Amino acid sequence: MTVKSKILLQLKKADGYISGEQLSSALGVTRSAVWKNIKALKADGYEIDSVRNRGYRLLSIPDLLNKDEIMNNTKTGLVGKRLVVLDSVDSTNEEIKRLAAKGEESGTIVAAERQTAGKGRFGRVWTSENGGLYFTLLLRPELPPNDISSITLAAGYAVCLAVREYTGLEAMIKWPNDIIIGSKKICGILTEMAAQSDRIDYVAIGIGININHESFPDEIVHKATSLFLETGSKLDRNKFFSIVIECLDRVLEKFLVSLSTEDIKLFKKMCATLDRRVTIRKNGADISGIASDITTSGELIVTKEDGEKITVNSGEVTVQGIY
Ligand code: BTN
Repeated sequence: MTVKSKILLQLKKADGYISGEQLSSALGVTRSAVWKNIKALKADGYEIDSVRNRGYRLLSIPDLLNKDEIMNNTKTGLVGKRLVVLDSVDSTNEEIKRLAAKGEESGTIVAAERQTAGKGRFGRVWTSENGGLYFTLLLRPELPPNDISSITLAAGYAVCLAVREYTGLEAMIKWPNDIIIGSKKICGILTEMAAQSDRIDYVAIGIGININHESFPDEIVHKATSLFLETGSKLDRNKFFSIVIECLDRVLEKFLVSLSTEDIKLFKKMCATLDRRVTIRKNGADISGIASDITTSGELIVTKEDGEKITVNSGEVTVQGIY
């Protein structure tokens, strides 16, 4: 942990003011090092009151992603082994793909406050307003390319767990890649892959979560929501990000070894699409029926009116009653 992070921790723990002398002896650094790091924290947006003969007091924490704050509070293995936090980038998926091409290891995450060319599915634009969480996880699983649907599903399941743990809200998966609360979307996942014919080279799992958004543009207000709008309180994005990383690590690490039927049962329990009437648009044609099951590879089984069962692994899904 850096001296800056240690000072921040002491300021957070302190009940009122803490003197420069107390900080320097608690951390074994000089008074001038304390002063320099307090200045650096202020430059990062922390409001710190300094009073002669009393010391320092933390007044407020900026709503900015902070790598140290995230990682110091995260117990993880593979996921987030390396975390890169950027102020601005075209798209975190594109940045991860550039890193992957240079040999970046499995487990790295790139997060950004802003994306200038954020991407959604089907070539759509993903606008990255302030207050969201936008990041991409690089994985190099030893799996066949067909398993990509289940990777997205597993990541969605992990995000649901994190939302439930931090807010108590009943987040659900809208197969294959959205997370919803009630009938509105709070998160979208865009998984991209580079593969040989029989094995995945890497997957870039891009996740965008609406956290502290206070409103949405008219065109999407009926189908988008944020954790702030649902809970009525602003969330600490660093704390929430730690929980998301821990949940992704727990779910994906297990998933990369093998997925039991018990795991699939848990995914299914959190899938809002099952047992509903759906329409899948694939290659320009519509297929309608009841979403009746999910396979161990993460595909959706749709039972058509005539009883025929078809297996779908991608495509745009309209679910009756959602959005
Ligand atoms: C969708 O719902 O269509 C998927 C949206 C995925 C958005 C995330 S934000 C982080 C990552 N970077 C991108 O450019 N897209 C994904």
